[in-house]
Amino acid sequence: MNRVLPVSWTESEGRAHVGGLALADIAARFGTPLVVIDQRHLENRLARFRAAFGPATGLTYAGKAFLCGALVRLLARDGWLVDVVSGGELELVRRAGFSMENVILHGNAKSAAELERAIAYGVGRIVIDHPDEVNDLRRAAAAVGAGHRPDLLVRLNVDLTPETHEKVRTVGPGTHFGMSPAVAASVARRIAGAGEWCLAGVHIHAGSQIRDPALFSRVAAAAVDFVAPLRLCFPETVELDLGGGLAAPYRVGEEVPSPRRYAEALMAGLHRSGAEARLGAYRLIVEPGRSVIANAGLTLYTIHARKPLDGAGEALAVDGGLSDNPRPSLYGASYEVLNVSRASGEADRTFRVVGRHCESGDVVAPSAALPGDTEVGDVLAIPGTGAYVFAMSSRYNGVGRPAVVFVRDGAAREVVRRETDDDLLACDLSLGGPGAARGARPVSAAAVRPSRAR
Ligand code: LLP
Repeated sequence: MNRVLPVSWTESEGRAHVGGLALADIAARFGTPLVVIDQRHLENRLARFRAAFGPATGLTYAGKAFLCGALVRLLARDGWLVDVVSGGELELVRRAGFSMENVILHGNAKSAAELERAIAYGVGRIVIDHPDEVNDLRRAAAAVGAGHRPDLLVRLNVDLTPETHEKVRTVGPGTHFGMSPAVAASVARRIAGAGEWCLAGVHIHAGSQIRDPALFSRVAAAAVDFVAPLRLCFPETVELDLGGGLAAPYRVGEEVPSPRRYAEALMAGLHRSGAEARLGAYRLIVEPGRSVIANAGLTLYTIHARKPLDGAGEALAVDGGLSDNPRPSLYGASYEVLNVSRASGEADRTFRVVGRHCESGDVVAPSAALPGDTEVGDVLAIPGTGAYVFAMSSRYNGVGRPAVVFVRDGAAREVVRRETDDDLLACDLSLGGPGAARGARPVSAAAVRPSRAR
């Protein structure tokens, strides 16, 4: 269990603790569903990546995995860069006071407004995903009238097939990110030839939840093979941004490479493809997301119902599910489930843990082993939910998104508050919410009365 759980997890007197606090108490204080981040675990991960890669590598956190102001400040403190993929993520990072120079903007369909904002804010790097984007950028720069020009990287789609869920594979057949080496090479020549922008390097992100280190070596080699014949298009130190993708463990016994093994695999690929001799000076950039934050986080739910299922055991229905974690439905993701109110109880019965949403697919865990005396009001923890869970949450069925709490050394800090019904309704202009003043008029009874057939 210990690879799946956050580092500060302990059990005493029948109760599970994280960050020195009983999880049941955290749930009582902040309500559920609740995302709890073990700050010590997170800081350890940031430090392990730094130790594995050394000071020269551009460690870049992939914001799409989970983003909030408190996290961005930790990243800044530890010298990380951040990759953002929308105006919204860019805005969050900026408002957290992060240096725009250390931001990489990704996206396969960036809007003109997003490009303009990125240029106006002075982001350090923009990754070019398609050939027309150079023109989009030129227009954006003219519209902003800014002197600042972000460095550019071209995104490469290489002929590899990572072993992972097909929905999170981003290179090879059937994928739509980046450009083939031939197209990317012509874009690189065009950018370098025009001399308007600095073409800093190349980017490859092969996919997510990748367990095989050899795949990372192949990605590194593909980057070298692409850059070498075009070496003169790039500056003296060319940037090799090899994306993210390192897997996180979700179930007990699941083995994944450590940050060190990941770094060694990338270095081996660079070395074997002759990076030093063929490229001269280069700088490595990596963009891990999941492997940084997944196991620092867990979700707490309260059980609202326990009931027999016709011929299929028993169900525990919790107060969240599909809206705060769509991963089981989307990817068949599988998680451990622990009853933190009865941590010392023997897990002697299996339950189907279901969410509160109106779909048979809203199953948190199809068969969770838990103490037989688990009852309504107990708090369940789902570890490994720090990445792509809160970030992918929705308001389905009118359920607001959960709060997020950072815990460390006996203190809990609410860093994102729970969404209220007012938050949910704020954009509905006909309801007279805060936004209504700008757009909508109150709807009169006459206006909503059905018109009579003439
Ligand atoms: N860089 C780029 C350009 C990416 O698109 C991604 C993830 C990353 C870095 C970070 O990859 P990571 O280290 O987190 O694997 N929603 C899916 C995961 C989608 C990943 C999208 N791109 C899930 O819940 O499994």
